[in-house]
Order: sequence, then structure tokens, then C-alpha cells
Amino acid sequence: MKTNKIVFFSGNDLKAILTMEKCIDAMKSAFMALHSGKAAMPLRTKLEMEADNGTALFMPAYLPEVCKVGVKVVNMNRNNPAKGLPLIHAMLMVFDSTTGVPLAVMDGEFITAMRTGAVSGLATSLLARKDAAIAAVIGPGTQGETQLEAICKVRAIQKAYVFGLQTERAQNFAAKMEEKLKIPVVVAKSADTLLKADIICTATSSNKPVFNNLHVKSGAHINGVGSYKPEMAEIPSDTIARAKVVVDQMTGCLAEAGDIIQPIQQGIITQDHIHGELGQLVAGSISSRTTEDEITVFKSVGVAVQDLITADLVLHLAKEKNIGTSLML
Ligand SMILES: NC(=O)c1ccc[n+]([C@@H]2O[C@H](COP(=O)([O-])OP(=O)(O)OC[C@H]3O[C@@H](n4cnc5c(N)ncnc54)[C@H](O)[C@@H]3O)[C@@H](O)[C@H]2O)c1
Repeated sequence: MKTNKIVFFSGNDLKAILTMEKCIDAMKSAFMALHSGKAAMPLRTKLEMEADNGTALFMPAYLPEVCKVGVKVVNMNRNNPAKGLPLIHAMLMVFDSTTGVPLAVMDGEFITAMRTGAVSGLATSLLARKDAAIAAVIGPGTQGETQLEAICKVRAIQKAYVFGLQTERAQNFAAKMEEKLKIPVVVAKSADTLLKADIICTATSSNKPVFNNLHVKSGAHINGVGSYKPEMAEIPSDTIARAKVVVDQMTGCLAEAGDIIQPIQQGIITQDHIHGELGQLVAGSISSRTTEDEITVFKSVGVAVQDLITADLVLHLAKEKNIGTSLML
């Protein structure tokens, strides 16, 4: 007879457990593990659901250091926003890697948003100017929220601008984030407002660049999280060419990130232009920003170790707080 118990974590359970500070710390461990070969993570499997205008990603990872193996299934259904539904839905399954025993099932929507914000927070802490004070978020959606939250944890941000396609959505984002972060968050009135930004976060599902290279001031740091297909790009090729570029994972970005693939295909940069991976930066094996005027870019497509390390964090914190619902298998 089976006696295994697993714990189910709803989105609300996870909101009661996870903090951005802890997630940023967890990302440091995840990218160190990836860099030092202490994580196994095959390239994710992508399934195009053409009839439904969606993409499903199957993202496995193994982290022997925390005795966990797991997989996240994440769906991006591009018709959802028009239906009033979130773009992304996801679920995570976590197992004890020493025995294979199932441990937990968790909602993946909040974990995805937190770990995607947290990795940009980590990259920002390592790449942005120390005196960065003005932020800009392009894409007032789920990821945009955690992008702004994360950079406010690692730099003393005094004001943020938000750029959106729909004024109402941008206004709602500004009001919500102003309340949450206790800084002024202002809907940008013109494209050149971006020139004020020390840190720019792009979090859209755009196929073409969402800003003009001329609107990026010297010394700015950019986090680009939105593109996950070769035909999608948020950052102009000339900005990529002008910047020191760090990626979450080289193979992933070269296979999926239009922001990197397109300037290579256009002959504007070669692969050698990519400075390195976040794990190398965390380990100190590549340099960070070397001048105050340098433009830095962190491009992420998202990797499965981020989800698994966050799930491990959830399991630890949930025990302390007695959160989660036990289910018999
Ligand atoms: N890198 C990662 O690890 C990672 C993780 C999760 C999601 N993503 C990607 O991030 C993107 C955003 O996801 P989300 O969940 O926030 O979606 P969302 O639909 O909640 O938000 C996207 C927002 O961007 C706006 N937008 C689109 N084009 C724009 C433009 N040109 N200028 C300004 N605003 C624009 C949309 O109107 C919307 O408000 C998606 O492409 C998603 O796949 C990446």
C-alpha cells in the first residue's frame, strides 16, 4: 500500500512564503550550481500549440546539492490577455532525487514571476551602477511587477517610469506598484522619457524592439526578460552591439532569444560579443561593469534550476510556517 504524502502549494500559499530577498539569494545558489556543473539541466522542450496560439515549455532540472529533481510545465497562451486571463500558467512537480519519492506540486505562476524578477535583481546587483536611482519598466504586466520589485531590493530606486501599450493598464500598474514599493511610479508620456532611466526592464511579448537605442543613456543597465523565440526581440540590435551583454544561459539564449540571435544573423555582432553567463559573473570569473559609462544588458530566457531552487526554498520555509496542503498519493 502506498503511504507517500505530497504537499500541494496554491498561489496564495506561495505568496505567504516567498519574499523577493530570499528569491534573489536563491538565484545566486542556482547560478553557482549551474556554473560549477553541480546542476543537470537539459535544454527545455518546446511544444508549439499553433491551433491555440500558445507555447508549452517542459523544463526539467536536477540539483543534487539539495537532493531535488523536478519539472515545470509552463504555458504561454498569447490569446489570454485579450480574454482577461494571465498570459502564463504553470505547474511544478518536485521529487526527492535520492529516492525518487514525490514531494510537492505547486502553482507555477507566482514562482515564475518571482524567480524571473529575482534573477534580474541578481544581475542588476552585479551589473548596474551603484548610484542607479531611476527605473523604467516597459511592459506593465505580471513580469514587469516583479522586475521592478527586484531592482528596488538591490538599488536605492527613487522613481520609476512605466511604458505600456494601453494607458489604463499602465496606470493600474503604476498605482499598484506605488502602493507596494512606496516610491513614485509614473506613466511615461513620451518615448524619450526613457533617457532618464538608470535601469530599464523590458517585460513584453513583443516581436520588435520596444525602445529606441538613442533613448538609452550611457551607464544604463537593461534587463530583458520578454523574448523567448528567435522571432521575438525587445532590445534593439544597435543597443546589444553597444553593450556588455550577460545572459542567463548561453545555449538557451543562442537557441531562443531573438535579442541575441537577430543581431548575430544581421552580422551586427558575433557570438564572441556575449560577455558571458550570469553564473560566471556570480563566481567572479568574468568582469562586471568596468566603467560608469558602460551600458550593460542582462538577457534571460529563464532556466529550470531557477524554478527548482525556488521550490526547494518553498519546502524549507513552508515547514517553518506550516503552510501547504498534504495529499495522500
Ligand atoms: N525570461 C524569463 O524567465 C521569463 C519568465 C516569464 C515570462 N517571460 C516572458 O515575459 C513576457 C511578459 O510576460 P508577462 O507574464 O508579464 O505578460 P503580460 O501579458 O502580463 O504583460 C506584458 C505587458 O507588456 C505589454 N506590451 C506588449 N508590447 C509592448 C510594447 N511594445 N511596449 C510596451 N508594453 C508592451 C502588454 O500590453 C502587457 O501589458 C512574455 O513574453 C513572457 O513569455 C520571460
